[in-house]
Amino acid sequence: MSMPNIIEKRNKLVALSLAIIALISFSSMMQAQTIGLGTPISESQLQGFDLIAPPNGSGYPDGSGTAVQGKVIFDRRCAACHAMDGSGTSGNTRLVGGNMQSAERPIRTVGSYWPHASTLFDYVRRAMPADAPKSLSGSEVYQVIAYVLFLNGIVDDSMVLNKDSIMDIDMPNKDGFIDSSQAL
Ligand code: HEC
Repeated sequence: MSMPNIIEKRNKLVALSLAIIALISFSSMMQAQTIGLGTPISESQLQGFDLIAPPNGSGYPDGSGTAVQGKVIFDRRCAACHAMDGSGTSGNTRLVGGNMQSAERPIRTVGSYWPHASTLFDYVRRAMPADAPKSLSGSEVYQVIAYVLFLNGIVDDSMVLNKDSIMDIDMPNKDGFIDSSQAL
């Protein structure tokens, strides 16, 4: 076969592959349309994800409550997995006590490890109870986390927790982290 012939063949092959690729993308586009992929998410659906409560105090809902109120919720909605006293039932479910200074492997809990109360609020609001996430109201989250903080000796049982007072809570390990957010 002569040289120009080979080149012509190669060009035809390239053209054919491109046509096939175009056809595949086109047909998958059509398929996506017919099976309903790509529907824009609505504002109200988005609100279910827009629940970030960072340490700077933004993003908290209204509502309030004390550890006394929180105990009722904890016993009913949390104790099955975290035990009545928050000591946990398995692996990562211990919420109380622990020690970051221990010579052994440190036991990390909300009380010993987490540097901000906001993380507790944010996590519980989004992920707990694990068998029914996002089922607690704003006030119920304030109440139940007040109880978790009380079990850790961080607040007393009559402290009213709300979006303002949560900013005043000093977590025991608040200085245990290095802020590298400005470093890069
Ligand atoms: C069905 C079981 C279940 C229930 C009910 C439940 N949790 Fe949990 N929770 C878990 C599990 C499992 C983890 C560990 C998740 C992981 O490490 O990824 C966890 C983790 C946590 C943590 C983080 C602990 C840590 O140090 O990492 C907190 C805080 C918490 N739960 C609070 C609550 C509260 C408050 C309630 C009640 C409103 C609740 N949980 C109800 C199973 C449960």
